[in-house]
Order: sequence, then structure tokens, then C-alpha cells
Amino acid sequence: MVLNSFYLTYFLSLISSLFAYDLSTSYGILSGRESGDYYLFKHVPFAKPPIGELRFQKPETSEKWNDVRDATEYGPACMSNSTTSKSIPKSISEDCLHLNIFTSRRCLHAKNCSVVVYIHGGDILYDSAVMFNDTHILDTFVKNDVILVIPAFRLIFSHFTVEDQSISPTNLAFYDILKALDYVKSEIHNFGGSNQKVTLFGHSYGGTMATMMTFSPRINQDKSLFQKTVVMSSHQNFQSLQYHIERTRVFATHANCVLPSKLARKMTKNQQDSYTLKCLQSKSGHELLRIQRSLEESGYTTFGGVVRREPLFTEVHSSEYMNTPNPIPMLTGCNKHEMDFLPGDMPIAHMFGYENPEECEEKYRYDLKHGKYDRENHTDKTIAMLVPTKIRINKLLEKNIPTYFYQLRYPKHSYHTDDLYYAMGVHPFEMDENEIHLKEVYQQMIINFVKLGNPGNGFELTDIKTSSYFEINWNQTTGLRPHMSTGFEKKMMDYWLGEMVAFDKKISEQKRKTPDFKFSEIYINPNIADQSSSLMFSVIFAISVACLGYFLYKECYTGDQKRVYLRIDGRDYNTVKQSEMLVY
Ligand SMILES: *[C@@H]1O[C@H](CO)[C@@H](O)[C@H](O)[C@H]1NC(C)=O
Ligand SMILES: *[C@@H]1O[C@H](CO)[C@@H](O)[C@H](O)[C@H]1NC(C)=O
Ligand SMILES: *[C@@H]1O[C@H](CO)[C@@H](O)[C@H](O)[C@H]1NC(C)=O
Ligand SMILES: *[C@@H]1O[C@H](CO)[C@@H](O)[C@H](O)[C@H]1NC(C)=O
Ligand SMILES: *[C@@H]1O[C@H](CO)[C@@H](O)[C@H](O)[C@H]1NC(C)=O
Repeated sequence: MVLNSFYLTYFLSLISSLFAYDLSTSYGILSGRESGDYYLFKHVPFAKPPIGELRFQKPETSEKWNDVRDATEYGPACMSNSTTSKSIPKSISEDCLHLNIFTSRRCLHAKNCSVVVYIHGGDILYDSAVMFNDTHILDTFVKNDVILVIPAFRLIFSHFTVEDQSISPTNLAFYDILKALDYVKSEIHNFGGSNQKVTLFGHSYGGTMATMMTFSPRINQDKSLFQKTVVMSSHQNFQSLQYHIERTRVFATHANCVLPSKLARKMTKNQQDSYTLKCLQSKSGHELLRIQRSLEESGYTTFGGVVRREPLFTEVHSSEYMNTPNPIPMLTGCNKHEMDFLPGDMPIAHMFGYENPEECEEKYRYDLKHGKYDRENHTDKTIAMLVPTKIRINKLLEKNIPTYFYQLRYPKHSYHTDDLYYAMGVHPFEMDENEIHLKEVYQQMIINFVKLGNPGNGFELTDIKTSSYFEINWNQTTGLRPHMSTGFEKKMMDYWLGEMVAFDKKISEQKRKTPDFKFSEIYINPNIADQSSSLMFSVIFAISVACLGYFLYKECYTGDQKRVYLRIDGRDYNTVKQSEMLVY
């Protein structure tokens, strides 16, 4: 019996060593898994475990190891327990800064394969780097000589925000991803990849992050981290610093980590923040997770998002930060119905880079109410994704950056994440006779773009004048195939990028002339808002003068207007939840 189990163990370890593959890196030897012509290296550390004093701090370079490190199984996902996630990880840990690398015999041999670094979605709140389907990855990427790298980044443990970043830097998730990209830059040749052929790829919030990294004037200026981007179904919305600071304060209060006001009065703000940081560092990770969960369950706030701040930006105005794209090609697009399954109004104008988002938001609400703008059954959340997609593309095209633009318009199935299955193998569904082909279309366009810089199959560069895009569709009955179209979402774009931009400019002009001027009053009286441009401004001027008196001022800010203001300003916490709640 004992002997039997001895032989069994021996036999099993012999079998597993048959499928193991040792590979040297600068940090030590990894023992990955061999599967036919493919090799998988999982749970590969790219930073020190961000625990203890490193919690809420920048990732530090990982230690070297002397033994062979097992890289055959996924490590734990980063800490997360959101009510929103549909993919609950098997295990979670704060020690999660690992990446997973999928490569092949051919790549290991040739040492110059293209590399895709995939940033997962989930609003920096949920989902993980260990939720993917190995078979799909191997069949889609590795079979085509593309190495896939999926890094983890901190989720709830990236959200500690204070004014002074020497206490704790804001946007830790970005620091984690940058650290992972550094690892790819210096190590990927060991896995058969070329660090000159790296594509940063993100879907949903992962695409948001990839976009921000593309437009950042502070990183990758020498293109040494990545040379192309793929962005699927994303916006590029930041949240306000004040919102994140307030959220941190509420969180710390629940953790009993805010000094009593009696003591706080004797200390500087930085001393108070340092106290809070130390206190939160001393709690167990699961305790903090429990607090986050209970805040979320009580409807308090979502916990994701990033602030327009280091490491990507300094605090520039939202109308400016997209003026600095890195000149690298992008493949990007969205789906026809993205979030149309989620009804409900939410403020959206602040996401579109206007100089006067409050006035633009009011105009939008007014125009909707009075039938001056037809949403065509799209929800606000869909508009909040389709419009930024086109803004991103226009900003790239203004700088002559090669941009490939698609829209999935398959009637039956074009909501958010419906195409993530095609690209990344998650959220699987039973494909119909057309969708089997749509999957191939996605896989080919991504692989071609990554390897050749051109998605092929008739998918051409988009043109700013005709607003052209690659319509992804298929119909076996009629013979409909993916093809180039023009006039992307014309009605929506004419409104948001034409009419609204002109309105925004006029408001700015007027504010320059009369600094105290409030244009929003136009929407108090429906008759007045009907005026077109020149007349409109004289009428508004009259009203705003009338509103200067305190009594009238109050009258001017009642009802809906007030709610919108509060939400945008982030002063009212119950309603701010909606304005910040752009989680995908
Ligand atoms: C997540 O939260 C739920 C509800 O509070 C709880 O039952 C569960 O144990 C939590 N899971 C983890 C991993 O903390
Ligand atoms: C990659 O390397 C192989 C073998 O060294 C070579 O034949 C091939 O042309 C290279 N490909 C590229 C794109 O450099
Ligand atoms: C992973 O993908 C393969 C092929 O695409 C599929 O057959 C398999 O069922 C998937 N596995 C899971 C766990 O979804
Ligand atoms: C919007 O929905 C209504 C009701 O379902 C429908 O009659 C109408 O055609 C739709 N409009 C568009 C532009 O899809
Ligand atoms: C394909 O086209 C036919 C004929 O126009 C139409 O009836 C059918 O609904 C289409 N199928 C899909 C999946 O769009």
C-alpha cells in the first residue's frame, strides 16, 4: 500500500515533469507548463508583494530567487469582492502582482514574436488576470505566433487617495501596469518575444486605461513600453480628485482610521493622512475588503476609477488632456448597443471634454425633454461610450496617427462584452451560424493588426471627413459581410461633436466677456431656449442679470437643474454615486 502510493507519487511527478519546461529569466528560473507546442508561465512575479508597508505604495522591483519557481498554475487574483463582478476568483490575495505569459516553441526559437499585453476590465474594482480560458488564448494568439501577457494590478488596494502623493501616490493601478510593462520590456525576449512589437490591449475599463496610457505625455514617449494599442468598448473618463479623497475619508472612517477631531486639530493635514495610512496598513486585507463590500452593499459608492494625476497626467483640464496622443497606431471601436440594456439617466457631458460641462449637460437634458434631440433608444450609458470612442479617434486623426475604427452591428448581439468572447474567450455563449464567422473576423483583425499593423480583410484606416468605419456584421442568408461604411452614428455625433461643441465654445466666449456670467439660466424658461444663436445670447444675458439678485438666483437653481449641479460638483454624496458610476 505504502509502496503503491510511493510509486503513484513518483509516477505523477514523472508525468508532470514531462510537461514541465524550465526557462531562465533575470530573476531566476521558471518552471512553466508545456502543452504540445505551447508553453504557459503563470504566477510570474513582476513586483514585490505589495503588503505591509508597501500596501498603498508604488510597486517595488521583485526579488530574485535561487530555486526553480513553479509557474504552472495561476496565482490568486488581487483582492476584490464587488457585488458587480460575475467572475468570482477561486482565491484572492494581496500578494497578487504577477503576470501570466503564453508562448510557443516557435517563438522561443525565433525570439522575435509579437507581444500583446492585455489589461482586463472591471473598473479597477473586479475581474482579474487569472479569469481567462487557456485553450482560447492558445488557439487565438499563440497559434498565430503572438505571445499573450496578462498582468494583474491592484483593485481595491489601489484606491487610497490623499492630497500629498509623497504619503501615498494616487492611481496605483497604473503604477502596477507600468511595472508590468517594464518587466515585459526587459524580460520578454526570454519568452521568445520582441519588446519592439508590443501591443497594449484593453477592453472596457482596460481599454480606458490603455487609452489614457496612449494619451499620456509622461510615459512611453520613446515608445519603449508599447508601440500599438487595441481599445475595445471604452470611454476615457476620469473622476475628480476631490471625489477620491472623500471616498478615502469615508472608507477610513469605517475602518476607524480617522483621528478624532480633538486630536486632529493639533496636526497638519499630512500628519492626519499619514496616521490614516499607517492605520489602514495595519488592518488585515480581509477586514478592508469587508468594509469595501459593506459600503457597496449599503449603496454608498463604487470603488473604482482613476484621477487625472500622476503617473500619466498632471492636473490638466478635461478639455486638454486628450491633446497629447503618442503617435502610435490604434485599432479601436465599439458595439452598436453597448449599454442599452441599462436604462437610467446619468450626467454624461462631463466625460466629453467640454470646457463648460455643466451648461452642456443642461442643454442635453433640455433638448431631450423638448424633443430637440432624439436618443434613438440609446441609453445615456451607451452614449457615454460611443461619443468618447469617436472623440478618441478624432484626436488621433487630428495628429495623423493611423487609426482603425470598427463598430459591431450584428443586430442580435451587439451589447457591451458581446464581442469579448470572440477576442478573449470570456463570457461564452452559444454562437449561431453568423457568429461563428464574427469570431473569426475579430480574431483575424486583432492578430493582423498586432503582427502587421493592418487588420486586413478590407478593414481600412478611418477617415475624419467621412467618419468611416469598419462595420462588423454577417448574414449567411443575405451574404452580408463586414465592410467599410461612412457616417458613424451620424445623428449622435452631429449633436455631441457638432452642435454641442459650438454651444460649448459660445459659452466660453461669453464667460470671457462677462466672467460671472451663468449661461445655464437659459433652460429655466423653455420659450427662451428655442432661440437660435445670436438672439439666444442676448436673451440669456438678460436672464442672467435678472438672476444676480439672491432671491432670483435661488429661483434659478431649483428642481432638476440643482440636482444636476450637485451631481457634477460631487457635493452630494448620494447622488454623486450615479455621476461617477461608469463601471464596465
Ligand atoms: C464577499 O462578501 C460576501 C457578502 O458580505 C461574503 O459572504 C463573502 O464571504 C465575501 N467574500 C470574500 C472573499 O471576502
Ligand atoms: C523572426 O526571426 C526569424 C528567425 O530568426 C526570421 O526568419 C524572421 O524573418 C523574423 N521575423 C521578423 C518579423 O523579424
Ligand atoms: C475554453 O475554450 C475552449 C475552446 O474555445 C472550450 O472548448 C472550453 O469549454 C472553454 N473552457 C471553459 C472553462 O470555458
Ligand atoms: C425605438 O423604440 C421604439 C419602440 O420599441 C421603436 O418603435 C423605434 O423604431 C425605435 N427607434 C429606433 C431609432 O430604433
Ligand atoms: C439576415 O437577413 C435576413 C433577410 O433580410 C433577415 O430576415 C435575418 O433576420 C437576418 N439575420 C440576422 C441574424 O440578422
